[in-house]
Amino acid sequence: MSAAPLCDGQGRAVTYLRLSLTARCNFRCSYCSPSPDAGTDAITRDDAARLVRLFAGMGVRRVRLTGGEPTLRRDLPDIAADVAATPGIEEVALTTNGQRLAELAAPLRRAGVSRLNVSLDTLAPERLEALAGRAADHARILAGIAAAGQAGFASLKLNVVVVRGQNEAELGDLCRFAWGHGAVPRFIELMPFGAGEPVPTLEVKQLLQAQGVALVPDDTRGWGPARHMRGSSAGLSGLVGFIGAMTESFCQDCNRIRVGADGALRSCLGGRDRVPLLPLLRDGASDEALAVAVRAGLLRKGVQHEMGPGAALLPMAGVGG
Ligand code: 5AD
Ligand code: SF4
Repeated sequence: MSAAPLCDGQGRAVTYLRLSLTARCNFRCSYCSPSPDAGTDAITRDDAARLVRLFAGMGVRRVRLTGGEPTLRRDLPDIAADVAATPGIEEVALTTNGQRLAELAAPLRRAGVSRLNVSLDTLAPERLEALAGRAADHARILAGIAAAGQAGFASLKLNVVVVRGQNEAELGDLCRFAWGHGAVPRFIELMPFGAGEPVPTLEVKQLLQAQGVALVPDDTRGWGPARHMRGSSAGLSGLVGFIGAMTESFCQDCNRIRVGADGALRSCLGGRDRVPLLPLLRDGASDEALAVAVRAGLLRKGVQHEMGPGAALLPMAGVGG
């Protein structure tokens, strides 16, 4: 199906879909607070394929599979292969906590996933347990990152949520670790979905310099809101990404939409507006009817997100960052 390109209420073209496949997670990150009773996954493999076809027909070119933790789905490689085979889709990416990556890196690469983001907030196993819960196994995550390096993804990023009083002293080490594994470290400001205090991006840059990472400007841009600098330290060098979710405004060039694990479209991460799509799919709605619902939801999207004190946010788990 081809149709008019998808635009939001502010005239921004939508080219990037973040599709959450499950609200379940094997970790309990303090800043994310996934529900322990997330239940079964509403979106089926067929739903995912249908939705991606629909969005591709309206101009979406890139899809990121997220969760919760998407590797908890046994059919993840099949879903990824369906997405990769969808006409119009140029890139398929995945975000994972890395726990099951050692086994899955090669199958996912074969299925057509080309870009991988792995969460790694700390190099200290005991701190990981404090941040992500008892199930988080640091050694398995590191094995997963190594397997990802071997599998030959076009892009490998390590996401670091910087949490006040937790991992600020490790930022330089995390940079060097990432570069040593052929990965780009990305420092993310904590958003108010759970516990913890954010560290502003400006301060993160100062901490990096103090921890031995020399930074120079770099105008590399990816699909998303990350801004980059080029860093070097101890004979290693590479890009460093920064996502200033709280202190920097990047909404003006927002190109993304989200479908949650509940099958509802969310036009913005900071907000509560949802368009349930699964009832339409279950009722046998045509692509045209689905497209009307999607466009109506996007027209309501505001100029920028609201995440300040008192902002009423939907839970992070099941939306996938
Ligand atoms: N603030 C910032 N980043 C978050 N993530 C999860 N919860 C939050 C939060 N409250 C990150 C994870 C993961 C990505 C999907 O989103 O660390 O890397
Ligand atoms: Fe799970 Fe990711 Fe949330 Fe951590 S941030 S609990 S790994 S979904």
